[in-house]
Amino acid sequence: MFELSTDVDQLVDNRSLRRRLALRSSERVQGVSNKDGPAYAGSSLRRSIPLLGGGPMNASRTFFRERRAQAVFKHGILSRYPVVFAAKTGWRGRPVAYLDGYAGRGEYEDGSPGSPLLLSEKAEGVAAFRDVTGIYVERNHADFLNLQEVMARRGRPGDVVLEGDLRDLLPEIVTRCQGHALFAFLDPFGTALDRSQLVNQLLNRPGQAPTEVLLHISVTTVARIGGLLRKRREGGQQLKPAEQKTIEHADRFLGGTWWQHDFEPVEGSADRGNATEAALRVAATYQQGIRAATGCMSVSMPIRHKPNQLPKYLLVLFTRHPDGLWYFADAVGKAGREWEAAWRNTEYMQAKARVNESEQQSLFGADDLLPDPEPFDIDAYVRINRASWERIIEQNIQRLLEAEGPFVLAKRLDEVYAGVFGAADGPQVRAAVKSLHRSGVIQNTGVGDTFHRQTILPARPPSKATA
Ligand SMILES: C[S@@+](CC[C@H](N)C(=O)[O-])C[C@H]1O[C@@H](n2cnc3c(N)ncnc32)[C@H](O)[C@@H]1O
Repeated sequence: MFELSTDVDQLVDNRSLRRRLALRSSERVQGVSNKDGPAYAGSSLRRSIPLLGGGPMNASRTFFRERRAQAVFKHGILSRYPVVFAAKTGWRGRPVAYLDGYAGRGEYEDGSPGSPLLLSEKAEGVAAFRDVTGIYVERNHADFLNLQEVMARRGRPGDVVLEGDLRDLLPEIVTRCQGHALFAFLDPFGTALDRSQLVNQLLNRPGQAPTEVLLHISVTTVARIGGLLRKRREGGQQLKPAEQKTIEHADRFLGGTWWQHDFEPVEGSADRGNATEAALRVAATYQQGIRAATGCMSVSMPIRHKPNQLPKYLLVLFTRHPDGLWYFADAVGKAGREWEAAWRNTEYMQAKARVNESEQQSLFGADDLLPDPEPFDIDAYVRINRASWERIIEQNIQRLLEAEGPFVLAKRLDEVYAGVFGAADGPQVRAAVKSLHRSGVIQNTGVGDTFHRQTILPARPPSKATA
């Protein structure tokens, strides 16, 4: 595999790199049989599958009214990571598929792209050097119709839009993706695909082609379902059939009833902190189980409405390659800055609305009472914070080295990025490594495209002759 820049945005934006990739890719494609071809070329799979279950119509309408800060984070990651996945896995003519298993309506009411449009745009962005097909699944009929219309208007000609339940469609999709590197994005409103399907049909699918899954684990949903368990436990209250079904769905998603024990310490419905902690414990055990069952590694980003709040959900990447972890963390850092801008902007708009409401009781209007909105400048934010992020990463690396000895950066991202995950990115880790080298702490120079895969080694003790 040839080496790419270790900075995701350079890869996404850098045109000369794209040209370089296009050249190398075409050089390698020559003489390589590509008889599988793009299995999904055209839209022959477009079809109507009977609607299975109603689907959360109101949740969907509310969701797509405006893009909240949490969605900005998610979309920031989706705007970056899939490009790297295609570049890294789709070489030598191997086709790539992006699967958006819970695609939604395609765009928000204000026209901002939803996840399928973003993936489609990214597929188009790498079309000069990678053969990527997008497959988008939506169960709710009204949302599917909207999605179909949006993709026809703004997507790529080869986009495949399917109506139906991902559970039913997955076997056929996986068969069609044989020989493709597959990146699957699973972003439901509540609990996602059954664990058995995720493991057996997706992550452990037959063949050698790489498979990665970016999974949304809804912390709030798991915490809420935990509340139903308490209701059942205390006072022996019978659950309504719909509630019972919700618990059964969670059992299938999490792979058994083991997770229910984690909710025993949760006291009442007001005990949100404990319920969230229990849900996070469940999510951690779940990830551990998936890793054990598939040989994957995982990295997980908690997504909050704004800083210091309880996480709403986790975005978890399952991958078998350390580069997957590395580039995902880099994308998370860059997306985190866009999230920072989004929640600050939301706060400002809310404050403005509150002032507008009380305007009539005041001699002053909102514009007089509130300071001018400071446009959040991401570059300035990075400039101001970069040095302190780098210092924190340096300390993290040094601490890990002292505690455990040599280690590979890309395999210890939790520790390397501790305290700055979702803000700092790959270039800051590189700067920290360079600084530790200059200070004589480590041997690694931080130079080169594979520095994140090399073992971090302590500096050699001075030889006796020089001591
Ligand atoms: C959170 S929304 C998706 C948002 C979208 N990923 C985005 O970021 O723009 C979840 C969507 O999944 C759909 N959905 C729920 N269960 C599904 C299933 N089993 N199969 C396919 N789609 C499903 C819902 O109807 C809803 O439109």
